[in-house]
Amino acid sequence: MCGIFGASAVDNVIPQLMTGLGDLEYRGYDSAGLGALKNGRIVRRRAQGPLASLAQLLETEPLSAGTAIGHTRWATHGEPRRHNAHPHATARVAVVHNGIVENHAELRAELEAKGAQFRSDTDSEVVAWLLDRELAGGAPPLRALRRVLPRLRGSYALGIVCAGYDERVFAARRGSPLAVARAGRAAWLASDAEALGRVAHEMVLLEDGQLAELRPGKVRVFEESLQEIEPCWRRIETSGGVLDRGQHATFTHKEIYEQPEILEQALAEFRADLAAGRAARWCGPLWRAKRIVAVACGTSYYAAQTARTWLERVAQIPVDLELGSEFQTRQPILAEGTVALLVSQSGETADTLAALRYLRSREVPTVALVNVHASTMAMEADAVLSCRAGREVGVASTKAFTAQLFALAAASIAIRKLRGNASPTELDELLATLSRVPDAVRGAIELEDSCASVGRKLAKAQQVIYLGRGASYPLALEGALKLKELSYVHAEGFAAGELKHGPLALIERGTPVIVVAPSDATFNKTLSNVREVIARGGEPVLVGDPHTASIAKRDGLPCIATPAIDSLWAPLVMAVPLQMLAYHAACEGDRDVDRPRNLAKSVTVE
Ligand code: M6R
Repeated sequence: MCGIFGASAVDNVIPQLMTGLGDLEYRGYDSAGLGALKNGRIVRRRAQGPLASLAQLLETEPLSAGTAIGHTRWATHGEPRRHNAHPHATARVAVVHNGIVENHAELRAELEAKGAQFRSDTDSEVVAWLLDRELAGGAPPLRALRRVLPRLRGSYALGIVCAGYDERVFAARRGSPLAVARAGRAAWLASDAEALGRVAHEMVLLEDGQLAELRPGKVRVFEESLQEIEPCWRRIETSGGVLDRGQHATFTHKEIYEQPEILEQALAEFRADLAAGRAARWCGPLWRAKRIVAVACGTSYYAAQTARTWLERVAQIPVDLELGSEFQTRQPILAEGTVALLVSQSGETADTLAALRYLRSREVPTVALVNVHASTMAMEADAVLSCRAGREVGVASTKAFTAQLFALAAASIAIRKLRGNASPTELDELLATLSRVPDAVRGAIELEDSCASVGRKLAKAQQVIYLGRGASYPLALEGALKLKELSYVHAEGFAAGELKHGPLALIERGTPVIVVAPSDATFNKTLSNVREVIARGGEPVLVGDPHTASIAKRDGLPCIATPAIDSLWAPLVMAVPLQMLAYHAACEGDRDVDRPRNLAKSVTVE
């Protein structure tokens, strides 16, 4: 994770670097730092905590420079303290790093034996010292990099400035994303292309093994051998969404509220594409699959798990589900005719990306469903599907989750159509029921007050249990994940039917149990599980639809009821109250909702 931003320009770039780092803060906010060249010497400013602390430091210790690199950190090696903040520097070189140097301990021992004096506990500092040794031996920066990079095991995106090399910033990439751009009398680098959108219109997404040299208004790209290559310039496409909270207290709140419009817009596009015979835009080569292997992490995994029901029931293709982080270890058998579906909001998650590369090496066609189009997965997959959520700033995925669900629901219908095994009436019916989702989501958002009052209670609980069956089971997992990450209250989700096989032992008098129970074929069974909870003193709250509400009323149970929706698509709607429960539990606990502790939005380390 971590975000890096840098520039070589004629004029002072520190304000742009601070704005760029602000755009990248979703990648980590444990500390932030700047390294600049002033009269041929390296100057640094570093602060523990979010970027605001660095901004405060700059008020007392101002910095102005045309050549500078900056970093916002998500701690992997070494506590989130000032001495571990990037850039790491010697007198000759300053380095910002995103990634992990796996062999840092050996390298550090070797360098220390030769007199290097490390000042941090990070893996990244070895890069500074390795470069320092090469520069001290007289190698110019690019040649020094060429010697150092093969010694690093692991992943890196690097931004580097070297004393005596004014107006030059060096960059290298392996495994972690890095984009470079030029505009007027400046050249820029950043961890994501979107962050460059404020300062340039065109960029080059560096490929693994490539290096770059930035000078004012000029970018040169090299292979690892230092062979210069013609860069492949692309327009910087932003996924939309102004970085502004509007009337909302947090980005997360705003993003929850954006869901009805996002779904409405996606639905309109989907309908138009179906009518115009462009169904394949929504499913890529998935429609030809004999079997789908879906790989993802975190909330994206729960989106894939929810969508398995649709891909199997509507598209009629068997689906295997894999966690990105387990996929390679497991090395699953990939049957003939398998097409892989990689689901990722960021398109950068290291585990999912590693799975994509593994699948490609096994010649399995890959389809990436991403929200960020200028992402590594979008670049490397055989086909790309769009989740159309617009930029999501809150670390907790909310609108991206429902947009992923919508994209996968649409993919299932598109596949069904393309395979020609559904009658026009069946397709119309599927589309008609799906079309009711945006309004139902709008109705679900109106439940905020009831969600807030339950959420406030959850904030005080020791633990919260989430239950669901069938398509509601992954929602129970997602609801529990949302509560954990936003409010730090311990929560676990279970398949309701598994309760009696162990988790029931967790229920004590007063344990809150959130039961996702829309009125589908599993409803009565789930209701039996609710009774088991009540019998042990647990306090269930049902999340469902008007039918759920009527049963809850009969039985005197609290219920959060969304508008009625066809049970097939209910997860798209039920997700909203779960998000709001977690949101309000977090507010009650005075949490940093947009930036939960210890987390980052884009997890670019394995
Ligand atoms: O960018 P991705 O969708 O690949 O990210 C996967 C997970 O890291 C992500 O969904 C994470 O679980 C969220 N913070 C959950 O809200």
